[in-house]
Amino acid sequence: MNRSPFRGMCLGTLITLLLLSAGASASKIPGIPDGCSTRCHQSKVREQFVHGPVKADDCIACHQPVGGEHPKDRGVFRLAGEREKLCYLCHEGKGVKRVVHPPVAEGDCLACHDPHQSPYAKQLKALGSELCFKCHDPAAFRHKHGHAPVASGNCLGCHDPHQSDNRSLLKADGAGLCFRCHDKKLAAGASIHKPVAEGKCVRCHAPHGSDWPKLLRSTFPEPYYLPYARDNFALCFDCHNKNLAQDRRTDTLTGFRNGDFNLHYRHVNKSDRGRSCKTCHDPHAASQPRLIKEQIPGFGDWEIPIRYTKTETGGTCVVGCHKPKSYDRVRPVTNP
Ligand code: HEC
Ligand code: HEC
Ligand code: HEC
Ligand code: HEC
Ligand code: HEC
Ligand code: HEC
Ligand code: HEC
Ligand code: HEC
Ligand code: HEC
Repeated sequence: MNRSPFRGMCLGTLITLLLLSAGASASKIPGIPDGCSTRCHQSKVREQFVHGPVKADDCIACHQPVGGEHPKDRGVFRLAGEREKLCYLCHEGKGVKRVVHPPVAEGDCLACHDPHQSPYAKQLKALGSELCFKCHDPAAFRHKHGHAPVASGNCLGCHDPHQSDNRSLLKADGAGLCFRCHDKKLAAGASIHKPVAEGKCVRCHAPHGSDWPKLLRSTFPEPYYLPYARDNFALCFDCHNKNLAQDRRTDTLTGFRNGDFNLHYRHVNKSDRGRSCKTCHDPHAASQPRLIKEQIPGFGDWEIPIRYTKTETGGTCVVGCHKPKSYDRVRPVTNP
């Protein structure tokens, strides 16, 4: 409540001040009894969460008497301020940041809050995502593969309901948003995938849910080995050369080649057990160059260590206890 003139005051002082500013104490306003909420308006304080001034029976903080006999006459009160101005008598501005939620900008505080009371905390008119679904179509948040905070109605895990300096009312920017809940380690290593380093998690993941596993925006296989088809890797080929593993011979498509023999083709493009990219690459970051994982899946739970060294014109892999295997783009190795 920082911006208000009542900053730092306890509720008692606040009420006294408001009463004084109204020119009298509650009991001395002609025709207005004190004890509104105990004598007649019990229904205004019945719910579990009652707004501070209502609980304090300080009805006139918002309902200013304008003369006449209450309850005999009509129109004896008017609100102390219109729309959001009423709330801003005591609360700090909710529409001062770069991005403001339209209902807040329009001063429609009562779209979400009850001015008096509610069965839900913060006098909200509905719980969790139900509040949001009063205006946003819930169908847009139902997917084959849901994201836990969306499915559990925790929209506020990522969005501020009023305002933010980030786009889309987000509570943090880029990867910082995801790292409110996920481990930062995911994006750390000797090689970091460029979109990950740039915090563009949502280029590959749909934050509200997806038709593909792992919230991915496009096709990427779950198994480590599968018959090759280019469309299996649509996610990667959205940014990378679609023909990476298509041609047996190339001197342009990829750096993973021995002379012009395409080693992506050799490992990935097989009609039975072709490798998925993730047998070698981590999609986020890895402790070795070129996103090469430290371990590749073996049989069952057994993981095979892989040691990769890069050279100017090629590289060497030591997989498990096998002999080192090398490739060189300029001076092809025999038996790569
Ligand atoms: C924080 C400001 C605020 C306080 C404090 C407050 N009210 Fe209200 N009240 C409102 C607003 C705003 C409306 C208009 C609601 C609407 O338009 O939906 C309203 C409407 C009403 C109405 C008419 C509509 C209805 O909800 O029944 C009554 C009666 C009423 N208030 C009684 C009270 C009483 C009694 C108290 C004290 C126990 C009180 N109010 C305290 C803001 C307040
Ligand atoms: C007369 C001063 C006053 C006015 C006017 C007022 N409030 Fe409040 N409001 C309070 C006080 C006092 C509290 C209790 C603060 C606390 O418990 O920390 C409160 C608490 C709240 C809370 C809950 C905060 C919490 O942490 O539980 C919400 C939400 C809220 N007010 C919304 C509104 C809205 C919306 C309006 C306008 C319709 C409004 N207030 C108008 C004084 C006011
Ligand atoms: C789209 C729905 C929505 C609208 C519109 C809205 N609020 Fe809120 N408000 C919320 C939600 C949800 C919370 C609870 C936030 C939380 O728990 O982190 C909240 C919390 C609050 C609180 C207590 C915590 C805080 O952030 O200070 C106050 C005070 C408040 N709102 C005032 C207002 C005022 C004043 C307006 C109008 C200018 C308004 N709200 C409009 C949804 C809304
Ligand atoms: C009273 C109606 C209303 C409620 C309730 C409401 N919204 Fe909105 N919201 C809107 C409108 C209108 C827009 C602008 C049009 C649009 O994007 O659909 C909007 C836009 C947004 C945006 C996009 C903002 C931007 O700048 O791109 C987000 C994010 C959002 N709402 C989140 C929420 C969340 C989270 C809740 C629940 C806490 C919620 N809304 C509840 C009316 C509402
Ligand atoms: C895990 C974080 C997260 C959660 C939880 C979340 N959102 Fe979002 N939301 C985002 C991000 C990130 C964007 C920006 C979309 C983008 O960049 O593709 C967004 C965008 C939006 C928009 C703008 C329109 C659009 O779809 O791009 C609305 C409206 C919205 N969210 C509402 C909600 C509602 C309602 C909930 C709860 C049911 C919710 N969000 C839960 C992260 C989240
Ligand atoms: C409010 C907390 C929260 C935020 C913020 C959040 N997540 Fe999540 N996310 C979860 C939870 C909880 C799970 C389910 C448990 C798990 O797998 O760790 C999950 C699971 C996931 C999964 C695995 C889904 C699956 O099907 O296995 C992905 C991918 C994911 N989140 C990506 C993101 C991205 C990208 C962001 C940022 C845009 C993000 N998350 C932000 C809480 C969050
Ligand atoms: C280039 C695309 C891409 C980007 C960018 C990306 N991810 Fe992923 N992410 C994936 C893929 C692919 C998987 C599935 C990996 C698998 O199946 O083993 C995944 C899986 C996940 C998982 C689930 C992990 C698990 O073990 O189930 C989480 C959480 C996650 N990503 C979070 C993030 C976060 C946070 C960011 C941003 C810092 C991010 N991702 C950026 C492609 C991406
Ligand atoms: C959003 C675009 C985007 C997507 C989707 C994407 N990448 Fe990348 N990737 C990049 C960019 C940008 C670079 C850096 C290219 C450069 O430096 O020339 C890169 C580089 C790489 C590198 C080389 C890393 C290094 O350290 O030199 C590998 C390996 C890689 N990506 C694998 C993948 C895999 C596997 C997928 C699918 C899971 C994928 N990428 C999806 C954008 C993407
Ligand atoms: C057998 C392990 C292995 C598999 C499987 C694999 N890669 Fe690679 N990839 C490498 C190695 C090693 C390099 C480094 C080549 C160099 O720079 O010398 C590389 C390099 C890359 C690069 C950097 C640019 C280039 O081509 O040199 C991209 C992008 C890439 N891979 C994407 C993918 C995608 C997408 C898949 C799945 C379709 C995939 N990789 C499957 C080992 C693999």
